[in-house]
Amino acid sequence: MTTYKLAVIPGPGIGEEVTSEAVRLLESTDLSFDCSYFEIGYEVFKKTGTPVPEDVLAGVRKTQACLFGATTTPVGVPGYKSAIITLRTALGLYANVRPAKSYPNQKGMKDVDLVIVRENTEGMYSGWEFELPDSAYTVRVISRKATERITRFAFDLAMKRNKKVTVVTKANVLRKSDGLFLEVARQVAQDYPDVEMEEAFVDVTAMRLILKPKIFDVIVTSNLFGDILSDEAAGLVGGLGLAPSANIGADYALFEPVHGSAPRLAGKGIANPMAAILASKMMLDYLGENRWAERIENAIVNVLTEGKVLTPDLGGSSLTKQVTDAIIDAL
Ligand code: NAI
Ligand code: MG
Repeated sequence: MTTYKLAVIPGPGIGEEVTSEAVRLLESTDLSFDCSYFEIGYEVFKKTGTPVPEDVLAGVRKTQACLFGATTTPVGVPGYKSAIITLRTALGLYANVRPAKSYPNQKGMKDVDLVIVRENTEGMYSGWEFELPDSAYTVRVISRKATERITRFAFDLAMKRNKKVTVVTKANVLRKSDGLFLEVARQVAQDYPDVEMEEAFVDVTAMRLILKPKIFDVIVTSNLFGDILSDEAAGLVGGLGLAPSANIGADYALFEPVHGSAPRLAGKGIANPMAAILASKMMLDYLGENRWAERIENAIVNVLTEGKVLTPDLGGSSLTKQVTDAIIDAL
């Protein structure tokens, strides 16, 4: 039997609480995992001067995939750069994949099943900023290479789903940068005659996500637009306790709940572990263990449908561990 080598970076607060539950659930399957634990973030920065030391990166690179909990990013510390962004960049994780799917028994909209594919390395988050007297500038970088890579990723994903890609830009105003994004997307689309490509502007897309989310299958867009639209989509289907994400590169991938360390919830034992467990489900899909991935998702659907063992964010009064136990029972 294959033993999968995993890097586990639980992080502080509820990051630790939910990641340990995801690992406990993985270990209840008949798959085999060899987990190496690492620490990144502000506490590490205070000791070493960097949020993600080289030896951590080297250790992570020896594994096949990473399960990540959360970091806490202090505001206003000069010289400190977010540990998770540093890690994603160092590992070349260019595609940020965020599904928004309706599950039973929750406050969100019904029948939504879409995936937002966000370019993770450039765009408005190029980090290229400068100031002149009384003005400040951020350079929005769109390259042919990164756009081709992310749009191809989206079309490949659509081939496994409902064969529709919505390319979201503001090409009517950002004529150069989003002009190039759209041009490259149209070229890539020619290699996928079975996939319908739809072009849409970001403002209209923000509205249609709320009015008609069911029309979407895969949405592909640049960094900032993807950041905003994916939080909007998570809100549509029931919030952070149920929202997983993947960061995928050419030869490595990292899986995490969308939420952060939630300091006010930490230590109470009532954080919802479902987002972290759904992230581990995405990891199993990535590793080719699709049957177990499906079983885990079905187990979560069972627990949600029964509605007896839920954390407070979903209207219940159960503890984190009780929810994991219920999911393991349903497996
Ligand atoms: P957050 O995601 O930690 O919490 C936002 C709200 O959602 C809180 O009210 C929290 O109680 C609720 N919530 C989040 N996850 C939940 C869960 N599993 N179950 C039940 N309720 C849940 O975002 P916030 O408060 O803005 O940030 C806290 C810290 O986390 C900050 O330092 C921030 O920088 C960091 N953060 C890190 C992220 C990452 O590592 N990828 C992502 C988002 C925030
Ligand atoms: Mg965000």
